This record gives sequence, C-alpha cells and structure tokens, in this order.
Amino acid sequence: MRTPIIAGNWKMNLDLPQALDLVDSIHHGLPYPGEVDVIVAPTFLHLSQIAAHLKDSYIAVAAQDAYPKDSGAYTSQCSALQIKNAGADYVIIGHSERRQYFHETDQTVNQKIQAALHHNLIPIMCVGETLIEREANQVTPIISRQINAGLDNLTPEQVSQIIIAYEPIWAIGTGKTATPDQAEDVHSTIRFLLTSAFGGPTAGQVPILYGGSVKPQNANTLLTQPNIDGALVGGASLNPSDFIEIIKAATP
Ligand code: PGA
Repeated sequence: MRTPIIAGNWKMNLDLPQALDLVDSIHHGLPYPGEVDVIVAPTFLHLSQIAAHLKDSYIAVAAQDAYPKDSGAYTSQCSALQIKNAGADYVIIGHSERRQYFHETDQTVNQKIQAALHHNLIPIMCVGETLIEREANQVTPIISRQINAGLDNLTPEQVSQIIIAYEPIWAIGTGKTATPDQAEDVHSTIRFLLTSAFGGPTAGQVPILYGGSVKPQNANTLLTQPNIDGALVGGASLNPSDFIEIIKAATP
C-alpha cells in the first residue's frame, strides 16, 4: 500500500515571513493530517529556515532542484549534499519549468537523481508532455523516453525510493486539468514502464503523483484513481485552506 503524498511546489513565490505564515496556517487548520505525507518546496533561500521551523511537524521539506556535483565552481547552484544539510528530505528534479527555461535534459535529470539518492534525498522526478505532443499522439513515446532516460542505470532498489510526478505541461498553471481518465491513463503507462524496466514489486512501490492545476474542486476525482498516489500542487499550495482541502482529499 502506497501512502498518499501531497507536495506543494512554491516555485519562486513568498518571502520568508509569508512562507512561515503559510506553514503555520496549515498546522493551525490541520493539526493532524492522517495517513498522508505532506511536503512543501520553498526556494533555496528559505530552505534551512523553513526546515528548522518544521522540525517537529508532519510537514517535510523539498528543494526545487539540485546540482549533480557535491561542490566546486558552479556559480548559483546548490548541491544535493548542501540541500540535505539544510534539512530537506526531498528534491524536485526535472520540473517542466527547469526543462523549458533552463534547458534541462533527461541526462541531467538522471545525474541529479543519482546525486540526490547518493545523499539520501528522495527525488520527485517530473515528467510530462506538451499540448503539441499530446495532439500528435506522442504522449506514450515522450513519457517513455523521460522515464527510461531519467532512471537510466538505476537499480530496482534505488527506483523503489523515488517518487514520480506526471505533470502535463499544458495543465501547469493554466487552470486546465487532465481529466481523471486522461491522468490515470498516463499513470498506468508509467506503472507499466516501471514494471517492464524494474519488475512488478519495485513498480508497485513507486508513488506516482499528478500535477497540473490541482485544486480542491478536482482533487478528489483525481486522487481516487488507482494509479494516482498523490499530487504535486503549484498555485493552490500557496493558499492554506486550498492546500488543506487537497490534503484531506488524499486521506484514505
Ligand atoms: P500548478 O503547478 O498546480 O500551479 O498547475 C503544478 C506544478 O508546476 O508543479
């Protein structure tokens, strides 16, 4: 049985007082979440303060990226080691905004995943197709390429520690959500790809989150699909009551 996961990707939003207020409001509105893992992803700048603030709470912390090297002359970057030392337990890797604006490839995604695992950070690997790719019936080839290249050279044991997030690019920040059937279709394809590459027991352990305009209004129908194990939430994670409603929708 996979524990549901609700992760809030704050992207480049919130100053530190706003971020602290947001997590305090989540605790106040939802003192105990039940059997759901809750994660928030602040900017690098606030990672250590938010992690320290959340030390004894049910909310875990993720970084939004990690550089594959441990240290060196890589101006502006943060390593998985530094992120772990800052108090994070998770890291989002290969978000479509990173792929789109920062030219991240499946190969860099793979290197970052290996670095994260090496430093005991749980990677949340994002995959997803553009609208043009969907309309050209390219969803399965695109997702297969991203999954197979992103997880290249990993052992089944390593893959069993990873979280995957399916985020159709056309649904991110647009208000357009994949229908539960469209999402479940891709999630079951991902489960099939994992089974083929790493075996059924490993594939059965990997949580697959859906992301793309998840809101309280659509969370329940998405989260009750058999292969949707949680959500990666952008915009709605900045609003405590919306985020709480989404967490509640994930509670078994
Ligand atoms: P959204 O973002 O919920 O604002 O669509 C999701 C994401 O980018 O992770």
